[in-house]
Amino acid sequence: MAIERTLSIIKPDAVAGNHIGEIYDRFEKAGLKIIATKMLHLDNDKAGGFYAEHQERPFYNDLVSFMTSGPVVVSVLEGENAVAHHRELMGATNPQEASEGTIRKDFANSIDENAVHGSDSVTSAQREIAYFFDDKEVCPRTR
Ligand code: TYD
Ligand code: MG
Repeated sequence: MAIERTLSIIKPDAVAGNHIGEIYDRFEKAGLKIIATKMLHLDNDKAGGFYAEHQERPFYNDLVSFMTSGPVVVSVLEGENAVAHHRELMGATNPQEASEGTIRKDFANSIDENAVHGSDSVTSAQREIAYFFDDKEVCPRTR
């Protein structure tokens, strides 16, 4: 399997709930390595641009307002099959449909405040990583 990189965002609800460490623990226990990370309070432009693909959807304004409601933790994860592996750990977009033991099942309350973001493809991951990180902010492991 290929070594991939993916973008993770711990959203404002999960940061407010004090779940950063528990979510990182799940990534690390699953073998995904955190190779870049920062905490940010997104403004409308940054959050809106990130979700530009959803601009025409009815939930877009609420999504941008939620994503700017408090700090987020943005990270790059690296590992085998990282994009799909991370999406598996996250669970379904709607936490009511998420499998037992997934992050969204355990930490999210609703589809519009669902604890975490993860890239949905290698192509999206490349774009999303570059949206938040300069090359020099990404620190691949040498051991
Ligand atoms: P989407 O990319 O479909 O989901 P995912 O985060 O699993 O890749 O949607 C982006 C975010 O938009 C989603 O995490 C939460 C929000 N959203 C809603 O608020 N309502 C909805 O009906 C959908 C589909 C998404
Ligand atoms: Mg998505």
